[in-house]
Amino acid sequence: MKIEQHLRVKVGDGYDVYIGSGILENCGRFISDLFPMRNCMIISESNVAPLYLETVQKSCEAAGLHVSSFVFPAGEDQKTLGTFGMILNAMADAHLTRKDFAIALGGGVCGDITGFAAGCYMRGIPFVQIPTTVLSMVDSSVGGKCAVDLPQGKNLAGVFHQPSLVLCDTDTLSTLTPEVFADGCAEAIKTGILNGGALYELLMEGPEEGRLPQIIGHCIAYKGGVVERDEKEQGERKLLNLGHTAGHAIEKCSNFGISHGSAVAIGTAIMARAADALAWSTEPLGEEVESLLKDYNLPVITDYEPEELLEAALADKKRSGKLITIIMPDAIGHCVMREVTKEQLLEVFTAGWR
Ligand code: GLY
Repeated sequence: MKIEQHLRVKVGDGYDVYIGSGILENCGRFISDLFPMRNCMIISESNVAPLYLETVQKSCEAAGLHVSSFVFPAGEDQKTLGTFGMILNAMADAHLTRKDFAIALGGGVCGDITGFAAGCYMRGIPFVQIPTTVLSMVDSSVGGKCAVDLPQGKNLAGVFHQPSLVLCDTDTLSTLTPEVFADGCAEAIKTGILNGGALYELLMEGPEEGRLPQIIGHCIAYKGGVVERDEKEQGERKLLNLGHTAGHAIEKCSNFGISHGSAVAIGTAIMARAADALAWSTEPLGEEVESLLKDYNLPVITDYEPEELLEAALADKKRSGKLITIIMPDAIGHCVMREVTKEQLLEVFTAGWR
């Protein structure tokens, strides 16, 4: 095992994040240090479980934990109240008590749904995140946003429930398809645009496996800082939604045929081009952001018309009254929140569309 990075997110009691290789085989040691001799349930999905469930289970058992597991079908369309209910039933069938905990083993869907179930089961039990995709390592495993989708929109039912520990084993990234790998890079690039500095420089050097632990570490350090200052998204945390207003709309228009990362990449490119076109940025951004996204094999344009995107965006939960909060890049390393009307949002989508 090689630990490349160790960070601490200081929200609530605080939690450790370890990034490195060979962590899965040794995860039981980290977990049992926190929860010695307890019962736990590993929640995973049908693509990830055949690869890693046995390794994680054996490591936890060797460390003295009593382990059960629940595996649900893989896919973004499984992030539903139905799957959430099945996980709660499995926890009850396994007689988990308030002293016990859950482990999310998988990508963003698995982490979100496990965190939501852990946050609700017996009014809340702890959980550990073991993310296995770039997206879940750089973004969703940290910060405690846990939700499922409703037919009316994404992430409409959920809780803020921080994990007790996050273990990022970069060995798991070698089994990702190029599309799933690229998907996560969209969230890393989003974070790079927000943060600028060393993270942005690293991303500009291009996708290379050896740089991943550092990129993941920078993304988590940035996001952890934001979450420490604004856990419940009352202000600064909204910045993490850069590219997501248009991105969620694109996902919705495609009936979720376009992945989250691809949609966020297009959404980020739309905002960068719009910032240029509307003269809202202090430096030209459109071409630079497009070129960075393309280097990571991500799309930057959509066929859905601005009016279609607007309609889908208006169903989004981030709307408060008549105004919608959007995140506009001002310069690399500096983004701002703007409250816009639906007419102004249409102007933004139109300005950044191509
Ligand atoms: N993914 C954005 C956030 O956690 O706030």
